[in-house]
Amino acid sequence: MRLLFYLSGEFEELARIEAETFLSVFGGAAKDSDIQILVGECSEEVSGYFHRFGLIHEVSEHLFSCTSLEELKERFESIEIPDGKVCVRVRNIGKRKVDSLRLERELGAILWRKGARISVSEPDHIIKVYFSGRIHAGALLHETDRKQFLLRRPDLKPFFRPGAILPRIARSLVNIAGIREGIVLDPMCGTGTILVEAGLMGLEFIGIEAYRVIAEGCSINLQYYGLPKNVVIGDVKNMGLRDGSVDGIVTDFPYLQSTKSLGEIHELYSSALKEFERVLRENSRAVFLTNLDVDDLVKEHFEIEYKLYQRLHKSLTRRIYVCKK
Ligand SMILES: C[S@@+](CC[C@H](N)C(=O)[O-])C[C@H]1O[C@@H](n2cnc3c(N)ncnc32)[C@H](O)[C@@H]1O
Repeated sequence: MRLLFYLSGEFEELARIEAETFLSVFGGAAKDSDIQILVGECSEEVSGYFHRFGLIHEVSEHLFSCTSLEELKERFESIEIPDGKVCVRVRNIGKRKVDSLRLERELGAILWRKGARISVSEPDHIIKVYFSGRIHAGALLHETDRKQFLLRRPDLKPFFRPGAILPRIARSLVNIAGIREGIVLDPMCGTGTILVEAGLMGLEFIGIEAYRVIAEGCSINLQYYGLPKNVVIGDVKNMGLRDGSVDGIVTDFPYLQSTKSLGEIHELYSSALKEFERVLRENSRAVFLTNLDVDDLVKEHFEIEYKLYQRLHKSLTRRIYVCKK
């Protein structure tokens, strides 16, 4: 099946890696890309995993891509009409602006003339048309419930500490770890944002946290979402886990300031990365956030597949490392 992904515009690079990883986990590959759009081929039945998306807003069965309005209308003439009621939804992406309501009516009329039953309020099938750099059309398969992420905002959880990452980012990072079924480890889990998302995605998880009060708070958060309290008090530099026992690591290093001695920072990263390599299964990924450039230390243990920068505010730029063992 050819899938058409509509990606977050706010975190587009991350969303694109999430979609590419999704395809590769299910034996597929990306075939085409455009602004906030990725088209890929996938041979397996994957619809049971769409609920895991973090920064992928929608996925459709790809029908066609084209470059002009004339071609779009021409291609609509040959769309196969599905059983049930149909509607067309047009979305402008980026700078491109078409009169979406008018075009939805025009394209709907083409389908109606071909015998489709049209319902805007209660459709059984939605044909999506995205005006990106080019035009892409697909039959909608899944729309991510983005409100759920707002409802799980860190400050709305029973246990809160400033500095927790956003749930939709946490979820995207877990997807980027590329685990179909298996165990995600967050060895510096804090309030448990990553663990909660992994658990709600149906993955097994383990959390490690240095401070008792935070580990206990994390347990309270996990329990609040009906998840097992799989958190232990421990040290990322010396984890009580067997070699090769986890399928992916997703974590967020403490944002260390220059007030910490360089030796202390070096010791944390070098020991933690050595431990990541030890506990990770072969060919799996460690995905982590940090405020530091630690390429040299990472390269001692991993291949850096991606490194992204996110400017949070004037004095804090987050690095996202995606590393392969
Ligand atoms: C940036 S915070 C993680 C925030 C977390 N992602 C969340 O959503 O709440 C880093 C966490 O690592 C913990 N930590 C610091 N040093 C550690 C160590 N050596 N071993 C385990 N955890 C550690 C800190 O207590 C802190 O909770």
